[in-house]
Amino acid sequence: MPLICLIPGDGIGREVVPAAAQVLAAVQPDLRFVEADAGWDCFQRSGSALPDATRAAVGSADATLFGATQSPSGPVAGYASPILALRRSFDLYANLRPVNTLLPGQPKVDLLIVRENTEGLYSGREHREGDTAIAERVITRPASERIARVAFEQARLRAQARLAAGEASSPSATVTIVHKANVLKLSDGLFRETCLGVAAEYPDIRVKEMLVDAAAMWLVKEPARFDVLVTTNLFGDILSDLAAGLVGGLGAAPSANVGAGPVAVFEPVHGSAPDIAGRGIANPLGAVLSAALLLEHIGRGAAARRVRRAVTRSLAGGTLTPDLGGAATTGQVVAAVLQGLED
Ligand code: NAI
Ligand code: MG
Repeated sequence: MPLICLIPGDGIGREVVPAAAQVLAAVQPDLRFVEADAGWDCFQRSGSALPDATRAAVGSADATLFGATQSPSGPVAGYASPILALRRSFDLYANLRPVNTLLPGQPKVDLLIVRENTEGLYSGREHREGDTAIAERVITRPASERIARVAFEQARLRAQARLAAGEASSPSATVTIVHKANVLKLSDGLFRETCLGVAAEYPDIRVKEMLVDAAAMWLVKEPARFDVLVTTNLFGDILSDLAAGLVGGLGAAPSANVGAGPVAVFEPVHGSAPDIAGRGIANPLGAVLSAALLLEHIGRGAAARRVRRAVTRSLAGGTLTPDLGGAATTGQVVAAVLQGLED
């Protein structure tokens, strides 16, 4: 009986995590759930944005579903982003962000952004000298090597899945290394060189490289060019929001944070969305599709496929929240997904 830790967090995290948990419980009745606290509201109540009890709950669960937390706009003594802290303390070095076509009429998109999750510009090494502020962009060979390996392994898995699904005309497995080594010669030079070194171990996978600015343009213009993209932390953060925009926005974009160990944290790509929080209109599909990734991680692949099929059915049936152009509430989308599980 796998144990799932639920961390709703702030804002719409409190709406979409219970929604996704309902779907999880329906599709796998043997799951057990434990809820844990984190975020800005938690910080204001308890003085910690990520209490020790929450860290322990994540560490002992089989997987965690995280909603979103709200950050104060300026530095606040003692406050640190809980998701960044979780990624760091459990060394969840890979952030996997699949982007797929959801609605009829959208361009065909089926790609995976593999984002390095522990260093780059988010290494936390920032300082200020009077009117100058400096952020250090840390790139290491070991971190670049392990993230490249995840990308090539994922490309292999995706090719196998396409084959199993009978997609004969599907493109060959490709990893695109996205960097800016023409300017960041030493840091992205090291990232590029390390990824190309790992590529040599995967002769069955095509390797391409692209400068990040060009990658942004091609993602918009011709997303079908891409299969797996591997990139550094900030570039991956930005490109994955951009790619989510191709298929209807942040509301339905899922992600996984995984490392070498058993701990894994699944979360919708979006934040706490204070502009719509509390109105019952948040799109729960980013969280529901993150729950599908969670199911795969705990070895429940068939249940993950059922959830994805149910999501596709609910979208095809036109049950859409306002961000996707509809008028449905969070609850109505969950009901449609639960119905889709039955059909
Ligand atoms: P956001 O993702 O919360 O919202 C951006 C826009 O997308 C808003 O207009 C929002 O209404 C819409 N949106 C997002 N999720 C949606 C959903 N499920 N359904 C319908 N519409 C949705 O990003 P924003 O506004 O930049 O940040 C708000 C707060 O969230 C900030 O405090 C930020 O620090 C935090 N944040 C937290 C993250 C996390 O916990 N992992 C990630 C990103 C932001
Ligand atoms: Mg982001």
